[in-house]
Amino acid sequence: MAQRDVAIGLLGLGTVGMGVYRLLQERQERITAAVGVRPVVKKILVRDRSRARLGIDDGLLANSFEEIANDRDIQLVVEVVGGRDPAFRYAKETLSGGKHLVMANKELLATRGEELLRIARRRNVDLLFEAAVAGGIPIIRAMHESLSGDKVQRIQGIINGTTNYIITRMTDEGQAYARALKDAQLHGYAEADPTNDVDGIDAAYKLAILAGIAYRTNVRMKDVHHEGIRNLHPEDIEYSRELGYVVKLLAEASDRDGALELSVAPSLIPLKHPLAAVKDAFNAVLVRAEWAGELMFYGAGAGQRPTASAVVADIVKVLHHIQTGSVGTLPTPPSEQRAVRRLDEREARFYLRLRVADEPGVLAAVALILARENISVQCVIQKGRHADDVVDVVFLTHEALERNMRRALQKFRLLPAVREVAAMLRVRGD
Ligand code: NAP
Ligand code: HSE
Repeated sequence: MAQRDVAIGLLGLGTVGMGVYRLLQERQERITAAVGVRPVVKKILVRDRSRARLGIDDGLLANSFEEIANDRDIQLVVEVVGGRDPAFRYAKETLSGGKHLVMANKELLATRGEELLRIARRRNVDLLFEAAVAGGIPIIRAMHESLSGDKVQRIQGIINGTTNYIITRMTDEGQAYARALKDAQLHGYAEADPTNDVDGIDAAYKLAILAGIAYRTNVRMKDVHHEGIRNLHPEDIEYSRELGYVVKLLAEASDRDGALELSVAPSLIPLKHPLAAVKDAFNAVLVRAEWAGELMFYGAGAGQRPTASAVVADIVKVLHHIQTGSVGTLPTPPSEQRAVRRLDEREARFYLRLRVADEPGVLAAVALILARENISVQCVIQKGRHADDVVDVVFLTHEALERNMRRALQKFRLLPAVREVAAMLRVRGD
């Protein structure tokens, strides 16, 4: 190693890892000129060493993680393996061993991030993870650095590209959920097991990371309410459009009256809302800060090139810190845990679709239940009869307590004329 080289250990050479390797090769001279030290990938860890890797010298492949951990030359490790195990052990041992760490692993950061940040701080090394949220969009740095003097009031985001792609197909082409999911799998957006994406778990991880930075607290996953899109129907997307809304899997964090509200759920947002135009697999994050006002970040939330771009930006930052002898670890969150408002205690406007028998008095019975639960109706639409004499009745409510709405749903289910509570979505962003 030349004196001005910084040796890097790369853990993972899949979609992101290969992109990182290639981008570092392509930009090596430019980065060196900019920061004064040269990034050199010295060792790469993969699961299956026997697989042919185009453009990768066999000699670069490590036999074990320990080979990288014990290599004194290696100052920086990049974790793009994914998952919790063994990635957590790799991350922990990297930091404990005094090496800087760049990672893209949202699952690990959302569940064990605080622990890793504490080790990084204790060992005085960098832990950077720009690529973990919204791929190529520089949202972590914006939140941590650019808004550090301001107060974030609310974050709203479309931070899962797979579900946004599925919802776009359902909206623009009227596809049913199952067909749109297949389409997403064919296009390489959704995995064979799409659970994390379609159940809102991936977006919840990302929201936990974003909110933790914005509100300087440790957000626990159990405090992020999440719902997915498996039960979303094209009818609801169509009725929403008639009412002036689009449906999106919306991730939202806000600080209301001293308590945080954190949720991921399919939601109606007005057609004119800045996030309404975000289509296909794109991501966007809308941040409202007390002084800066509304800021919108938009771009590719995944994919080899955008994600590698964010990882390499973190690598460049670490190189700069090594060159200047400083560290840029995120601050340890305050030991005090912020209060989080339970879903039951939150207020929202609701979209409700009931499938009911088309007979006299049904609407009155439903309206009575809503009235008794202190839920005021803003508008009602009834749609044409189905073959079996049932009709869809859609309600849009004014602000109401979630707890009351849940009680109303239970009562609806006891009415013989109500065949199905077909949908209950929240309306956001008016
Ligand atoms: P991937 O394509 O599945 O690649 C994973 C790599 O890690 C592979 O090279 C694999 O080795 C290696 N690996 C897996 N388990 C290992 C183990 N136990 N020990 C050593 N190596 C192991 O994953 P990816 O899409 O690149 O994602 C990597 C990380 O980036 C994840 O945390 C993901 O959430 C995050 N991320 C991905 C994207 C994206 O667009 N893909 C966007 C943002 C963030 P083999 O090659 O031998 O299988
Ligand atoms: N599965 C994620 C998405 C990409 O669909 O947005 C990686 O964060």
